[in-house]
Amino acid sequence: MTELRHFLDLDSVDAETLRSMLDVSARMKNAGGNETALAGKTLAMVFEKPSTRTRVSFEVAMQSLGGKVVILEPEGSQLGRGETVADTARILSQYVDLIMYRTSSESNLLEMADAASIPVINGLTDWSHPCQIMADVMTYEEVAGSISDRVVAWCGDANNVANSWIHASAQFGFEFRIASPEEFRPTTRIMDWAETHGARVSVSGDPVATVTGADCVVTDTWVSMGDAEAAKRRTALEPFRVNAELMARAADKAVFMHCLPVYRGDEATAEVVDGPQSVIWTEAGNRLHAQKSILLWCLLGGAGLA
Ligand code: CP
Repeated sequence: MTELRHFLDLDSVDAETLRSMLDVSARMKNAGGNETALAGKTLAMVFEKPSTRTRVSFEVAMQSLGGKVVILEPEGSQLGRGETVADTARILSQYVDLIMYRTSSESNLLEMADAASIPVINGLTDWSHPCQIMADVMTYEEVAGSISDRVVAWCGDANNVANSWIHASAQFGFEFRIASPEEFRPTTRIMDWAETHGARVSVSGDPVATVTGADCVVTDTWVSMGDAEAAKRRTALEPFRVNAELMARAADKAVFMHCLPVYRGDEATAEVVDGPQSVIWTEAGNRLHAQKSILLWCLLGGAGLA
């Protein structure tokens, strides 16, 4: 049986393929093309968590490649009444060609991929957000040139998005520095992965030292929906807020990135979010283009990236 091309994480696809995906994404953004490449194919998107960007960008990407989309949410499907993820995977595999799944749990994603007989794309778990970082690397290269050997500085909670940045640092060959309070630092699991794979990743409690000379400064939301620990998190993360003073420590042409949604005044000031170094709207827009090449690769393999 042919091995399925799942897109589960940036460490599960080889660096050469990831680079080809970014090249194809940039080409399609600039010149169009592939409007009928996925004609007759259907993508099922399963959302156990809310989404604006992932939902709309995947839907538009699939449609602009000639395909169709169906969307499932727990409230409107048997997933919400206890049908298992594995059974859902087996059912969807009878009807559609590809699944994009957003879930809190990495084990749910792996259960979906194990049981499906069609490719599965990770649309975010608590462990990682690989589609986002494909768009982020694409964006950095679009506005500032090759990311190879550049320095990306992360300030704040070293969360699922930071994990995918760590994977990307090995796959695309850049340095990734993290400034976080003790309780929000990367897990042993991801740091062990970084070490094993030669990723240049460092962790400190000093945001100024971390950002100094960096080519890109990145942060993410401090407080997730319904987080009972919101006040405690804000207190611990306050010294890691990205403000104009901190941005001034970065390289002259440094850019500011954020996967959105952003909460101005928490993880970054409005002055930075809406300032001249911010590339957040290009970054959000590139979700569409980056995901087109992921869809093409999952469904057509190397031929989709030719
Ligand atoms: N960045 C991101 O994944 O946005 P959504 O949660 O809106 O999909």
